[in-house]
Amino acid sequence: MKTRTIVFFAAFLVFSTIFTATVPLLGAQSRTPDRLQWFREAKFGLFIHWGVYSMIGREEWARQILQIPLKEYQYYADNFNPVEFDPDAWAALAKDAGVKYIIITSKHHDGFSIFDSAYTDYDVMKAKYGKDILGPLAASCRKAAIPLGFYYSIMDWHHPDYLPRRGWETGRSVKGADFGRYMDFATNQLKELVTKYDPAVLWFDGEWEHSNEEQRAFANGKMLLGMKPALLINDRLFKREPGYGDFGTPENYVPATGVRNPDGTERLWEACYTMNWNGWGYNRYETEFHSSSQLIRQLIEIVSKGGNLLLNVGPQPDGRIQADFVARLKRMGEWLKTNGEAIYGTTASVFERLPFFGRCTVKGMKLYVHVMGWPADGRIRLPGLKTDVKKAYLLTGPGRPLTFKRAGKDVIITLPGGERDPDATVIVIELQGPPEVEPNKIGPEKDGRVELPVYLADIQSEMGQRAYLDHFYRTTMLANWQNVNDYPEWVFTTGKAGAFEILASYASMWGGQAGYEVEVDGQKIAARTESSPSVYFPKTFSVGKVALGAGEHKLRVRITSITNNHAMNLEKIVLVPAK
Ligand code: GLC
Repeated sequence: MKTRTIVFFAAFLVFSTIFTATVPLLGAQSRTPDRLQWFREAKFGLFIHWGVYSMIGREEWARQILQIPLKEYQYYADNFNPVEFDPDAWAALAKDAGVKYIIITSKHHDGFSIFDSAYTDYDVMKAKYGKDILGPLAASCRKAAIPLGFYYSIMDWHHPDYLPRRGWETGRSVKGADFGRYMDFATNQLKELVTKYDPAVLWFDGEWEHSNEEQRAFANGKMLLGMKPALLINDRLFKREPGYGDFGTPENYVPATGVRNPDGTERLWEACYTMNWNGWGYNRYETEFHSSSQLIRQLIEIVSKGGNLLLNVGPQPDGRIQADFVARLKRMGEWLKTNGEAIYGTTASVFERLPFFGRCTVKGMKLYVHVMGWPADGRIRLPGLKTDVKKAYLLTGPGRPLTFKRAGKDVIITLPGGERDPDATVIVIELQGPPEVEPNKIGPEKDGRVELPVYLADIQSEMGQRAYLDHFYRTTMLANWQNVNDYPEWVFTTGKAGAFEILASYASMWGGQAGYEVEVDGQKIAARTESSPSVYFPKTFSVGKVALGAGEHKLRVRITSITNNHAMNLEKIVLVPAK
């Protein structure tokens, strides 16, 4: 019996070694966890999109957007001359902003390498500047102890062997082009990047025109890890297939409930975001930017869902970073200087949702509650918190305890008057043990009505999210709602079967200009917005009636048409049992 067990165990060991050796990159969990730890704890990274396209000032897709022939684009490749590039200043800005790592474009879709590459003349050495950029930047980052990673576009609009050409392109023959030979080139450049600059991360992109096999995703992933076992690789080397690569990369939106592997296990993820609204590379025409307040809250929200924020800047062609970006980064840094303890090294919230506009992050036996919408009664309720509280205090005032009490399954904390951070005030809650929480479901009140405020909703969205929660005087609303792909969704239960009147409480000054739809279990009720006195004070309107059985339901509100760039600020939906 004993020997059989040993034999089995030995066979298992041999098998598992072979298995892990031949099936690398199958999700973060199957690999040594330690190499991911710094990234998991970092929470906040800086993305830098910079290249010859910055000279045009129409973001990084400029060559495609303006359909610039390669011959003409050569002007920019020849004349790129960022005389103001100061890598120490970039590293210092990152430090000031509280950023823990940097990812920069080594080669974007246009194919130009901003590093000294032995495999092409289409690089910074042949440009007017004539000096390497990534070497000095790597040195500055090393001095500042900031891990540096490289973005690398597989798609290449310049290399003669890359296929396909752009649809509009003429005069560049595909005769003799060989994608395999292009992949040899790309592979050489990747090896070169690792050998020369020792990056912490390779951040792939532009992977959508070929299969994993054609792009040698598995072979190159394995090769790169062989060269540097601690290297992290994003999911885009593998066409963003769920479970592949070290982390997922949702772009310009926050996944409503975080990111998971196909088998349901937690997955490391990093949401990349622009600070402005259009594009990643320098855009001289850009006038709209997320506010620093919104960016701080976005960082908190992402971290509360277990992710990292990779926030982008597109430096100017001369190497300076525009004031719009610098100001926002500095304000984030200020907030993080006081509140960083509640961000770095924390894990996702233990509450599925909080009954007020706030988010939770966790470190061991401490909860950090980030209050964004100050409740009118000055109290916050932590629903279903089974673990007892030892003490509660403001992160900025650990000496002065806050009062708390247990109320059934919940814990209620009385907030201090006066001392609020306009973006998010952090309350520390020290627990008696590791946090244990009972899931809180949305259910009917005593009179059978169901309240669905936006802070209890999952905000569903995809690339290009615009809507976010905001707090106006005393009301939390879904604001900036102008993308039809963004919508709130609630799962709730009703007490008994019957008809309900649907009420919508929202603020909108532009009556009739937006069409919307309340969808309950697939039944859709169409409506148009009516006017309320101001965009800050919501008013309640009747939407229609719906019959519902007892039990669990799903309700969404979707915008169907919008003429004013702004649908409404939605406060809540209420279902009232019809008489
Ligand atoms: C998209 C864009 C690319 C940008 C990237 C950042 O793939 O095509 O320009 O660099 O997103 O995530």
